[in-house]
Amino acid sequence: MKGILLAGGSGSRLYPLTKTVSKQLLPVYDKPMIYYPLSTLMLFGIREILIISTPHDTPNIEKLFGNGSSLGLKISYAVQPNPKGIAEAFSIGADFVGDENVCLILGDNIFYMGNQIHAFREEVEKNGNSRATIFAYHVSDPERFGVVEFDENRMAVSIEEKPAHPKSNYASVGLYFYPSDVVAKAAGLRPSTRGELEITDLNNMYLREGRMSVVPMRRGNVWLDAGTPESLMDSSQFVQITEKRQGLKIACIEEIAYRRGFIDDAAMLRLIDELKDSDYKKYLKKVYEEYHELY
Ligand code: TTP
Repeated sequence: MKGILLAGGSGSRLYPLTKTVSKQLLPVYDKPMIYYPLSTLMLFGIREILIISTPHDTPNIEKLFGNGSSLGLKISYAVQPNPKGIAEAFSIGADFVGDENVCLILGDNIFYMGNQIHAFREEVEKNGNSRATIFAYHVSDPERFGVVEFDENRMAVSIEEKPAHPKSNYASVGLYFYPSDVVAKAAGLRPSTRGELEITDLNNMYLREGRMSVVPMRRGNVWLDAGTPESLMDSSQFVQITEKRQGLKIACIEEIAYRRGFIDDAAMLRLIDELKDSDYKKYLKKVYEEYHELY
């Protein structure tokens, strides 16, 4: 399974914050926003990742992660010259995907999944190379999102992009798993009235073919998108409150790499060593020391 992290776009709703800085490099409490979607890919066990961003921002993102080897990942980069839609990720990433299944995650989506992540992983594995898997999350303001319509048997029948009259409260989240034929399907998409290649059109293709599982992300999972000033602030507050209470960090990519066995002791020590003196460094030292004391 390969992963694409889409981190371009215009970030217009966050202007002037995003006038010179990419949305995905803005802070969400104590780390850059892009750490969160990267950590979600890592938690799904995905280690070969293509990051797509704008011509201006891609070099800065590359400065953050390099080729990913220090985290036990293989990260490559591609540029989206203009924000022509989320589904364009699959034409830009066509060679990268090749004939493998692929996960797409949006660069401003923050997930904090409870135990249900194990069930999600099983569902994705079960669907293998034959079905797509997407997730539906109950929100108070569905009109901002792609909204899932269900029939009387609670089966998903369609997804409507930002509908004026939403048919449910279930938004389709920015985390999508596809069989490798997604590249061919995306190539057949035409721009919508707003001039974008829509991920919703792509998802509706799989739905119409009866090849899509829409999995409810139930209470106990947190999904935030940090694309507006308010949701950016909400995201920072959520992370701050949770981390302060537990003394455990959310989306600490070095910790995940270490605990998941992507890197060994020596590589973890190198990561710690390279960090400037900070609470983040202290935290990672503690993770390393406690790991040795407790396990
Ligand atoms: P959006 O939040 O829908 O769009 P945006 O980031 O351009 O912001 P705004 O609407 O405020 O102008 O995008 C969701 C995610 O997908 C975000 O991480 C940016 C990314 N994206 C791209 O990388 N390329 C694109 O063409 C689009 C539309 C989005």
